[in-house]
Amino acid sequence: MIISPEIIEDIKFRNNIETVISSYVNLKRAGSNFNGLCPFHSEKTPSFTVFPATQSFYCFGCGAGGDAITFTMRMENLDYLSAVKLLASRSGISLPEDSNITGKKEVGRQRIIDMNKDAARFFHSMLLDEKIGEPGREYIIDKRGLSMPIIKHFGIGYAPNSFASLHDHLKKLGYSDEEMITGFLCARSKKNNSVFDLFRDRVIFPIFDITGNVIAFGGRRLDGIKELKYLHTNDTPAFKKSKNLYALNFAKNHGSDSMILCEGYMDVIALHASGFENAVATLGTAITPEQARVFSRYTKKVIISYDNDEAGQRAADKAFRNLQDVGIDVRILKSDSTEAKDPDEYIKKHGKDRFLKLLNSSKSKFEFEMDRILLAHNINIMDERVKASKELCNAIAGYPAQVERELYARKVSKLLEVPPESILKDVDSILNKRRKQEKSNEKTEIFRQSSGIGDRVNPESSLNIKANKIEESILGLMLYKPELLKIGIDHLTVDDFVTSLCKRIFDSVSSTFKECGKYDIGYIQGDFTIDEISRIAKMVASRELLTNNNEDELMRLINSLSNEKNKNDIAGYDNILDIIKNKKS
Ligand code: UTP
Ligand code: MN
Repeated sequence: MIISPEIIEDIKFRNNIETVISSYVNLKRAGSNFNGLCPFHSEKTPSFTVFPATQSFYCFGCGAGGDAITFTMRMENLDYLSAVKLLASRSGISLPEDSNITGKKEVGRQRIIDMNKDAARFFHSMLLDEKIGEPGREYIIDKRGLSMPIIKHFGIGYAPNSFASLHDHLKKLGYSDEEMITGFLCARSKKNNSVFDLFRDRVIFPIFDITGNVIAFGGRRLDGIKELKYLHTNDTPAFKKSKNLYALNFAKNHGSDSMILCEGYMDVIALHASGFENAVATLGTAITPEQARVFSRYTKKVIISYDNDEAGQRAADKAFRNLQDVGIDVRILKSDSTEAKDPDEYIKKHGKDRFLKLLNSSKSKFEFEMDRILLAHNINIMDERVKASKELCNAIAGYPAQVERELYARKVSKLLEVPPESILKDVDSILNKRRKQEKSNEKTEIFRQSSGIGDRVNPESSLNIKANKIEESILGLMLYKPELLKIGIDHLTVDDFVTSLCKRIFDSVSSTFKECGKYDIGYIQGDFTIDEISRIAKMVASRELLTNNNEDELMRLINSLSNEKNKNDIAGYDNILDIIKNKKS
């Protein structure tokens, strides 16, 4: 147990699972439960279920499950402790200091944010320092053309070419080596154990969160060398790279109806400097589903403006899908220049007015694909026209909304001079084929899961599939009905279980119960991975579908588990090995 049961109980009491989930998912009542479209995988018919009685959720499609805490972990991409803290703060519960909840002292998020602020001030003052800052200024002002106001606005700085300048400065302010290491500002040398600065002789870009806290840094080398051109803060208690969008703190206040998404710091800064203050960037990675969700909270339309090269275009494709999945109207900017590889260079070469024109002519994904296909085929030749039409139909079939498909079909029909009905008919037959394929994939997946083949969460289940089914039923039943929990604990020991996952679950549940006389999945979550929690939720959810959740059934299951286990112990492994050997010889 990481956090006391009293605190967990209080948090869960004030964060009712229906309320927590319905702020993210549109829930509809179904009997005593609720259904909705699963936020963790993409689906068209709802298999995501919320069970108010057990204050849990489970998705019968992708297998994600748990309680309000697990849901928050998944949704907000947080670890257990941070999810608990978020729910606590949302409901006005104050938690004791970190050190008291976990028993060990850890470097907290706030401490790192404070330290980052001091570090950012230091880097900035170094850039302004007449002598030390010279190489930095020469690069960022002379070479990259940034003005002093924009440097101030983004808090840009310079890390001196020294192994200890930041370290010594932070030490004076009272930060410990441990804190600097956890915050990814310093590291410990393997050679002589000394602590040294990680950012050296680099221009420094502080990374802000949505409220303007400095949560991380990016540092660019001044020479032309490509290796480690940018150094980034790794994930720390204050920073998750996959969640953050650079400059969103500024862009969100811009009041534009759209945002521009770029690949790098310099692109964003160049755009802001030219008045496009709605530009943000992912830091060199393709946009993740989490970032897409963050986006959808602040804007309805995103124009992707990635690098011209192939890698950039591939990343744009991926970003497109992730953004569209959360309902954003996505456009892709197609550069009309071969001289500029990214928005930063484009504006420098061609000016902001031409960039604005480009923005206004940004194409929808379909127009983009259509142009590409039409360029690849000479539609005056019959054969080629047929090929183009096939590819276009395939492209149209990729759009989930029927209205959209009809619009595009009409466009294509004009271009190819065929009636729109024929195009739509072809699109429909492609869709039907895809749906059939999806169904059969789903079936294979269900079979795979139910037979225990390739079970990643509990790999030992395939050793004794029957016994594993029974042990999971037992645990599910015990956790579903509190009055059966005590009976199960009285009749079972860890050794009665087969797989080590189920042994661990039983052990954790029964020791928690013995310690505090009650049980909630929230108490034991710190001991399991998020996928293991989902498995526990599956065990409980499976009982929801049954009517014989009583003591007789529990005793029957306990007996048959012991029978099944004995069978296997006698027939055992050696036996199976013998059979395999005989087959070979
Ligand atoms: P680019 O190589 O396109 O850099 O990488 P850029 O933004 O044009 O930077 P300049 O103009 O050369 O200064 C795009 C983004 O990928 C990340 C950075 O966030 C960068 O802004 N990146 C790139 C890294 O994290 N590490 C690297 O070594 C290179
Ligand atoms: Mn660039």
